[in-house]
Amino acid sequence: GQTAAVLDCKSIAKDIRTQIAAHVCKLKAAVGTSPGLAVVLVGERRDSHTFIRIKLKACHQVGISTFVRQLPQHCTEDELLGVISSFNDDPSVHGIIVQLPLPQHLDEERIINFVSPEKDVDGFHPLNMGNLAMRGREPLFIPCAPRGCIELLLRFGIEITGKKAVVIGRSKIAGLPTSLLLQRHHATVSTVHSFTKNPKQITCEADIVVSDVGIPNIVRGDWLKPGAVVIDMGTNLVENPCSRHGSSVTGDVCYEEAIKVVSAITPVPGGVGPVTISMLLSNTLDSAKRAFR
Ligand code: GUN
Repeated sequence: GQTAAVLDCKSIAKDIRTQIAAHVCKLKAAVGTSPGLAVVLVGERRDSHTFIRIKLKACHQVGISTFVRQLPQHCTEDELLGVISSFNDDPSVHGIIVQLPLPQHLDEERIINFVSPEKDVDGFHPLNMGNLAMRGREPLFIPCAPRGCIELLLRFGIEITGKKAVVIGRSKIAGLPTSLLLQRHHATVSTVHSFTKNPKQITCEADIVVSDVGIPNIVRGDWLKPGAVVIDMGTNLVENPCSRHGSSVTGDVCYEEAIKVVSAITPVPGGVGPVTISMLLSNTLDSAKRAFR
């Protein structure tokens, strides 16, 4: 039977947004302007369009202004850099996100480098990522999904210090910065990725398992130690003719198997995703506050 607590992340995401909305109001009253988030979207990827729609809606809910620039799939790197440059220079923009992945012909590294580190609310700029990696330094922004993951562990009272954590995946968006952030919180962190031999052997040892792979159901029940805590960062859009949008979202973890083994798990949908979005709002608010200090 089921033994796991299913962590209610939606109410946490909502609590955080209520707090942010109050701070946005205060800032507006004090300085006469709202925080502003600029969103750059290249091409027609369905998942990217879905994520952007969700991010924009969340901004509107809390009173953050949004500026959207959509570029065609075949735009040039210079066009994209030009858009970023104008947002870098725009004082009503406090945060800039370039939705990833970008089309193949664009140099992702060069583009991320071009976003002002002071407006890098995704936390992907090497200055922010580098400071995250180095103990004793403070990045201006911590990437949203890793922040969401830690926020959930803290709010559910799950001890991190001294625990064995395994992060499955090493993406710049989630896996890598989550490993770095868990280390900052004094976990003993292992990373499992596509070249890892016998990943199950490593994940089985973990008190905390974080998955950021992008493949539905890759993490099976027998990958998990009884009593472990599972944070499923997978946000995989899968075809589902029965659902209203023709697709539905599913995680990396085989949920039905995991709940029989672990002590707590985040569901997908309604897990880390909404909290990650709350962290984007929080990063944007922090940036606006710094701008008016
Ligand atoms: N693609 C998937 N997740 C993210 C994210 O958090 N930020 C950006 N910019 N792109 C993404």
